[in-house]
Amino acid sequence: MAKRGVKLDYAYCLEEVIGAQGLSAQDISGLAPQVARAHQRLGEQHQGGELGFMDLPGQSSELLDAILEQAARLSSIADDLVVLGIGGSALGATAVDMALKGALRYAQPAGPEGMRLFVADNSDPRFFGAMLDRVDLERTAFAVISKSGSTAETMSQFLVVKELLERRLGKKEALRRLVFITDPEKGNLRLIAKDEPVAIFGVPPNVGGRYSVLSPVGLLPLACAGHDVQALLEGAAAMAEACKSPELTKNPAYLLAALNVGFYRRGRNILVMMPYATDLFGLAQWFAQLWAESLGKAQALDGSTVNVGQTPVAAMGATDQHSQLQLYMEGPQDKLIMFLTLGNYGRDLSIPDLYPRIDALSYLGGRSLAELVQAEARATTAALASQGRPSYSLRLPGISPEVLGEVIYLLELATVMAGGLLKINPLDQPGVELSKKLSYGLMGRKGFEQEAKQMEALDAGDNYLV
Ligand code: PA5
Repeated sequence: MAKRGVKLDYAYCLEEVIGAQGLSAQDISGLAPQVARAHQRLGEQHQGGELGFMDLPGQSSELLDAILEQAARLSSIADDLVVLGIGGSALGATAVDMALKGALRYAQPAGPEGMRLFVADNSDPRFFGAMLDRVDLERTAFAVISKSGSTAETMSQFLVVKELLERRLGKKEALRRLVFITDPEKGNLRLIAKDEPVAIFGVPPNVGGRYSVLSPVGLLPLACAGHDVQALLEGAAAMAEACKSPELTKNPAYLLAALNVGFYRRGRNILVMMPYATDLFGLAQWFAQLWAESLGKAQALDGSTVNVGQTPVAAMGATDQHSQLQLYMEGPQDKLIMFLTLGNYGRDLSIPDLYPRIDALSYLGGRSLAELVQAEARATTAALASQGRPSYSLRLPGISPEVLGEVIYLLELATVMAGGLLKINPLDQPGVELSKKLSYGLMGRKGFEQEAKQMEALDAGDNYLV
């Protein structure tokens, strides 16, 4: 199987192929100067020490060695690793682990190929409690991942787990089962690690949560799970190389960003990512967060109010052909679809010809499941195109760490380029602060008394319960 070589096929975005709903050659060339300007700004930002995710593919081999050493230590004492983290501190590890070990990975016990990875990504007690019930605490390690070190969901999970571990195994053994991944200098986890000897890794200050899967945030859990993190980084480095050109049509990340923004400006407010592989659904969820949190912004860089953003939707082929496709085919012309197709599924099942006299079944006999799902992907993209519904495909040769590294880097760079085209800051997330502060107020955190009062004023109570 080809180890890497992701390609972007955008034929079904073009007016000459799908008609008036498509982009013309002039539309695309018209975007080129904006891309060139945004490219220059990104270069300046990177030079100025921002956009740290661009440096992750080439990060130091000492750090990688330390990660692998830590992973080896944890695997020697535990079979399972539970990631305590949320959002950007959780989704990347899930995406890669699900892609490589499969959506059914929990159905098997840990084996020689690496630890089982559980990722909490929520503080919902029903789910988190069930997760803790599933693991054997003595044979489980916990990675507490929070760049800020103050996220309530993650910190509450940590407090619950720490007490459980200490009660069951004593303080020393509890600490052996913990690893912190956080800001290199500040925050509560750093504070705790000053007094308690816990293994700790830093997240580069210039790498935000949703851009951090190739930092220790993703690499440590993935190394514990037995994945080839070096190969993941190599794939990302290869894509970084392929995305060096400032020229729109020679740079897949810039082209992807320009297509999305070009269609967004024409009223396509929804971007659906639809991989034709169940194991890639986590990647679609990772991308949804990256795209939503990076681009959904009230203010432009010049301070004007813009309220921009394209809503990402995670879908799955062929499953959603029987769920959402009807809407995509005939509903409002407000969507752009990004398909992810696989050249090679890594395994295949041939379909036997059991009923040669039943035409509706016999055409399947002698073919294979991979042939079927690949035909369905082609047929769906063509059917949409025939109705003037634009889409493009990321063609993945197969699923490997290298390919995932390529896709991750491609989408991260495309996201910051889209931010440049929309003239907003794709690295911050001011909109999520208010709900955090109001929760602090409700939970009685010191210093948030004002928010507690604000909450009382905002809360409609049960007045409109039917
Ligand atoms: O992408 C982001 O910045 C966010 O989704 C964060 O990752 C998320 O809020 C968790 O933050 P932290 O890592 O500080 O706990």
